[in-house]
Amino acid sequence: MWCLSHSWRSTSFFLAMLLLLKPPEVQTVVSYKPNIVIFLADDLGIGDLGCYGNNTIRTPNIDQLAEEGVKLTQHIAAAPLCTPSRAAFLTGRYPIRSGMDATGQHRVLHWLAGPGGLPPNETTFAKILQKQGYTTGLIGKWHLGVNCEHRNDNCHHPLNHGFDYFYGMPFSLMSDCQPTQPPEMDMPLRIKLWSYTQMIALAVLTLVAARLTHLVQVSWKIIFLLALFGFLFFISWFSSYGFVRLWNCIMMRNYDISEQPMTVERATPLMLREAISFIERNKQGPFLLLFSFLHVHTPLVTMENFTGKSKHGLYGDNVEEMDWMVGRILNVLDDHNLKESTLTYFTSDHGGHLEAQEGNVQQGGWNGIYKGGKAMAGWEGGIRVPGLFRWTGVLPEGKVITEPTNLMDIYPTLVHLAGGTVPQDRVIDGKDLMPLLLGLAEHSEHKFMFHYCGRYIHTVRWHQKETGSTWKAHYVTPVFQPEGSGGCYKVRFCPCFGKGVTHHNPPLLFDLSRDPSEAVPLSPDTEPLFHMVLESIEKAVKEHQKTLTPVPQQLSFFNVMWKPWLQPCCGTFPFCQCDKEKDNTANGQ
Ligand SMILES: *[C@@H]1O[C@H](CO)[C@@H](O)[C@H](O)[C@H]1NC(C)=O
Ligand SMILES: *[C@@H]1O[C@H](CO)[C@@H](O)[C@H](O)[C@H]1NC(C)=O
Ligand SMILES: *[C@@H]1O[C@H](CO)[C@@H](O)[C@H](O)[C@H]1NC(C)=O
Repeated sequence: MWCLSHSWRSTSFFLAMLLLLKPPEVQTVVSYKPNIVIFLADDLGIGDLGCYGNNTIRTPNIDQLAEEGVKLTQHIAAAPLCTPSRAAFLTGRYPIRSGMDATGQHRVLHWLAGPGGLPPNETTFAKILQKQGYTTGLIGKWHLGVNCEHRNDNCHHPLNHGFDYFYGMPFSLMSDCQPTQPPEMDMPLRIKLWSYTQMIALAVLTLVAARLTHLVQVSWKIIFLLALFGFLFFISWFSSYGFVRLWNCIMMRNYDISEQPMTVERATPLMLREAISFIERNKQGPFLLLFSFLHVHTPLVTMENFTGKSKHGLYGDNVEEMDWMVGRILNVLDDHNLKESTLTYFTSDHGGHLEAQEGNVQQGGWNGIYKGGKAMAGWEGGIRVPGLFRWTGVLPEGKVITEPTNLMDIYPTLVHLAGGTVPQDRVIDGKDLMPLLLGLAEHSEHKFMFHYCGRYIHTVRWHQKETGSTWKAHYVTPVFQPEGSGGCYKVRFCPCFGKGVTHHNPPLLFDLSRDPSEAVPLSPDTEPLFHMVLESIEKAVKEHQKTLTPVPQQLSFFNVMWKPWLQPCCGTFPFCQCDKEKDNTANGQ
């Protein structure tokens, strides 16, 4: 079968699928592009769901997807943080290829009004599906930028990346969005902005004095530019106080701002209403709905009737509410008889946030037996996430697949299902999952996976099919603080480089098939293949690096800094304020 592999994917794939189906169903399948519903959770740990072994959190609706479909147990996010992981998910490429991973300290977009974001020349799967006749909708979180050069150019906006409809948060939920919460804005960033402001102010004053006393010849132009720069730093610093909510916490419908600042408590009913209405409007299909949850990111906004109901505090309440939302949407699919014509997928953008704690109460997810969490690129807990696929009548039911797969795999999988082809002018890192899901292939096509922390490869995974081993070599690991705590509790996020990491030479080596918790590193004494494995991995890294090309850095300091002229604003800047949902919510949902 494998000699067919090349053309097999595009053309024979449908034939292969048809053979699996019983004759009456064939008719409906011939001209058949399935609807796609994707549930993307934010910061959810793999250990938070019933179907992944949690016996105290109630997630019956998500568990139902596992019962009625395929459950992936080694499903890996391309990055351990929102912005890069989502960029990779939508483009099928490691985020470093689109410039969407950190080169410095800034690993996600910090402001809605920064010019960084998913570059317009990247092609998302939504864009290809759109060309293949799909109606495409994004409901919920984006966090991949909005404007490039001026306030309304919308160069990074979902509508310019293949979505016909967008309703949601162009940014990300953060504590500042809920006025009752303590602000979250990065303390180190704030301190840095303030010290830059002071330094530049000092430099400007010195230059002005020197110029006036004819000590040095500097043009006024340069002094003015420097002063302008200093002013920008000052505004960024200043904005990081009262304005975060106003600048970042907004809701949009397509290009229109519907709420600024948003009322976070409304988001759940509004997003549900939008999703349901999107499905009903497009039930003749084919449609793609990416439902990108604000759950279960802090500040854990939860409706009253879910609050205090779970066994795990507000975090558990929030997970259970998310599950209820999944159920609501699945019910709508059922109501319109769309269950069998829809491929439904559930995942999370990366692992749970261990360091999210309020007092001693856990506010972040649980990564089960896996070490580490959000922001840690190498340890399994940061990147191993749930992966559930249901397509009733086509995919097997209740099947569990332990092969390594990646969120980037969704890209070629959906593109092929839609009858399209992936772009040929760039590297696509994802692999079509259908052969594996259908049981036509025993192994995933992934041999090596590279686990990036910003631009640094921290860890490499090698699935050695012949032996069944899944090796993982850690070149760099974060320094846990306090020591042995399993997280970076003093700084909230583990860093990628500098004093906060340890370099390992030789790398720490584990075999996940024997030690999934990465508890005891192997050594040449305990593992006869030690050197061979490291050499193979070393070679793979070199090969991989040859495929990288330099691209503009979207998360550079300049690109994440707040820029007044890029701030989405309803009303007259800087008096941005509107609430177009007020009338809509009055009659209840
Ligand atoms: C279930 O999830 C909760 C909340 O994240 C966690 O505290 C608990 O340890 C998990 N239970 C199991 C058995 O994994
Ligand atoms: C919460 O309220 C919604 C309606 O607003 C209802 O559908 C849902 O079942 C309720 N959930 C619980 C746990 O009571
Ligand atoms: C997008 O444009 C940038 C900057 O011109 C370039 O470096 C990059 O290779 C382009 N990406 C693709 C996928 O064409």
